[in-house]
Amino acid sequence: MRRVPTAILISGRGSNMAALLAAAADPAYPAEIVLVLSSRPDAAGLAHAASHGVKVAVVDQRDFRGDRPGFEAAMDAVLARHGVELIALAGFMRVLTEGFCDRWRDRLVNIHPSLLPAFKGLDTHRRALEAGVRLHGCTVHLVRPGVDEGPILAQAAVPVLPEDTEASLAARVLRQEHALYPAALGWLAGGQVRIEGDIAHVAAPGAAPWAAGALANPLPGPAALSTTAQES
Ligand code: GRF
Repeated sequence: MRRVPTAILISGRGSNMAALLAAAADPAYPAEIVLVLSSRPDAAGLAHAASHGVKVAVVDQRDFRGDRPGFEAAMDAVLARHGVELIALAGFMRVLTEGFCDRWRDRLVNIHPSLLPAFKGLDTHRRALEAGVRLHGCTVHLVRPGVDEGPILAQAAVPVLPEDTEASLAARVLRQEHALYPAALGWLAGGQVRIEGDIAHVAAPGAAPWAAGALANPLPGPAALSTTAQES
């Protein structure tokens, strides 16, 4: 099996990067991580990647103030040097130009900490709490020029609990991110994703628990269920 040479782009902590590296340590995983590229020299994820024997590079965003095309041209040069064919954004905090998104169309994937299209942008957990939603989660999607837009590959939902703080909710979502992202990148690299317009079709995603049935929070109690039964 040919593994697809893949870069992970980060700007910070890199916990999703670490989850992807762990999955790709299996030689049967369809993506091979050939590079971790950071937009910041102080990104904590760089040390983790280097200590796991992965090549790392920095294209410092501060060297390209007001020059996004220049920043991306520098990234493209590094990506080309490493023979990268697929990019996974993992906490990469730069908005990409239309040109970059078009060059990497359907080969550029991102994880976002909400159930898109709800809560695009930043501070998703705080905004979910403020909106009073009962389910929150994360989304892996192909990247299009609009921020947090593009065909959805996979989503995982978690309950929002009455006692939740922004931190507790973020932690619950992050655990799902670490499971969802390796699965979704694997489907993409393994050729199991077909794009039709704005929709991604994923073939044989496997018996993932989140595919098993409907999610509800709070769960309807026996009274609600018997009412439904009488009505039907
Ligand atoms: C994650 O919540 C991810 O969904 C978002 O940025 C955060 C990055 O965290 N895009 P980490 O750097 O992967 O730990």
